[in-house]
Amino acid sequence: MARILILYSTTDGHTIEICRRLKQTIESRGHSVQLLDVKDDPELAAGAFDKIVIGASIRYGKHQPLVNQFIEKNQATLESHPNAFFSVNVVARKPEKNRPETNPYLQKFLKKIDWQPQLLGVFAGRIDYPSLGFMDKHMIRLIMWITKGPTDPTLTVEFTDWQKVEEFAVMIAEL
Ligand SMILES: Cc1cc2nc3c(=O)[nH]c(=O)nc-3n(C[C@H](O)[C@H](O)[C@H](O)COP(=O)(O)O)c2cc1C
Repeated sequence: MARILILYSTTDGHTIEICRRLKQTIESRGHSVQLLDVKDDPELAAGAFDKIVIGASIRYGKHQPLVNQFIEKNQATLESHPNAFFSVNVVARKPEKNRPETNPYLQKFLKKIDWQPQLLGVFAGRIDYPSLGFMDKHMIRLIMWITKGPTDPTLTVEFTDWQKVEEFAVMIAEL
């Protein structure tokens, strides 16, 4: 049995939903999973975990800066464990941008950090128009209009391929 730590960075809660599905699938294979928020800057105690995963969402083109800071601070610990990283964004709803090699945010992020994760994932996120404030709602509607996505402000649209999330969970379990 492996003890797996999944660290997440979320603004509106969808990344933690993905983490919960990863946890469920990994635990069904006999491992244990702990979920922690990067913003709490958790201490990665030596020997406490066998594998470490980080998942973060994109907002206005970037993961939260805290994610980069956390990786920088804990790079040695990350590298001394089997490790993985995944990004959540809505550009990944497009088939030509939904793989680690083809997702522009993930590729840009990897160029900015020194850590080279052993396993990479990218998942399409969710747009929940009714929950957004005025500015964000109109910015996202504009971006969606430009990129031919849904613009109805009354809609919540989930683009996540949960089968793909479960396949990623299996890859983590097998790391
Ligand atoms: C204000 C705002 C800005 C966003 N900016 C981007 C963006 O630049 N590119 C993108 O692909 N997705 C963008 N998204 C989509 C989010 O990545 C998506 O909603 C994701 O599910 C959010 O995950 P979270 O709830 O864990 O933060 C944005 C969403 C919001 C609400």
